[in-house]
Amino acid sequence: MTAGDSVAARAPAKINVHLAVGPLRPDGFHELRTVYLAVSLFDTVTVAPGSGLSLTVTGEGTGAATGAAAVPTDSRNLVWRAAELLARSAGVPADATIGIAKSIPAAAGLAGGSADAAAALVALDALWGTRASRADLTGLAAQLGSDVPFSLLGGIALGSGRGEQLSPVLARTPWHWVLGIAGEGLSTPAVYAELDRLRAAGRIPDGTELTPAERVIAALRSGPPAALAAGLCNDLQAPALALRPALRRALSAAADAGAAAVLVSGSGPTVAALAEDEAGAVRLAATLAGAGVFRTVRAVSGPVPGARLVG
Ligand code: C5P
Repeated sequence: MTAGDSVAARAPAKINVHLAVGPLRPDGFHELRTVYLAVSLFDTVTVAPGSGLSLTVTGEGTGAATGAAAVPTDSRNLVWRAAELLARSAGVPADATIGIAKSIPAAAGLAGGSADAAAALVALDALWGTRASRADLTGLAAQLGSDVPFSLLGGIALGSGRGEQLSPVLARTPWHWVLGIAGEGLSTPAVYAELDRLRAAGRIPDGTELTPAERVIAALRSGPPAALAAGLCNDLQAPALALRPALRRALSAAADAGAAAVLVSGSGPTVAALAEDEAGAVRLAATLAGAGVFRTVRAVSGPVPGARLVG
């Protein structure tokens, strides 16, 4: 791939600061009321002319040493499906050489695969000159996965439906977090299935009453961190902890290190620790890096924009 004929786009990771999960729907998804926050950890997708599709993946979680599951480089990868879907909808051949440079770990509850798909849609639209509108790309994104529309949009948004129906939330305050990333990923469908099992066993509320998101949205808009800390919620935390008991220790380590609040990010196993401010996040990251419970520790902030061309 040479710089001259390639196009690159990047897209951010997300944290769900509110994730209320309703009962299982007949289509196999759960009704959500979620508040997404895009944070400053980005994957970059670079595309160039090719014959047919080819895909390479480099970076975070892709080496054998990390213990993370390998990211597939064929049609199991959401980027491959994004390329086929855009080509089909635009009536162009699906020809591209695609490189994904990962900073967002896979299967971590940070929507890394969704970020890659969103970045691929933006980059391939430019490479192929398909001139899709944002609305067109959002429609394709929703077909690819529940979180992909948010990876395109970025910022802060209230998500409903299965998470794909978005209402942007305006908030200027930058929020500072530390992400503690464990070695091994968790499968999103497995975490939802564990939620259903715990509910069927009567061990947790059944989800017919979705926790409203208004309180956390108000806190995101105006602060202070203590208000946001008090409003954080994640219905997938209990099933993630049931599947990965070691996460309890990771959450305590983050709380003991001085976080304003801690929660599991999405379906986990990443721990998101809220800091009071930027300096607090740097201190918290240093303490957690030394605690020996996480493979990787990252200080991030958000909101940041969604998928965009770079370079
Ligand atoms: O939409 P996405 O492909 O990311 O979803 C992956 C899996 O997560 C689904 O197949 C389903 O098992 C689960 N899921 C769910 N309810 C949602 C979103 C995802 O049950 N709202």
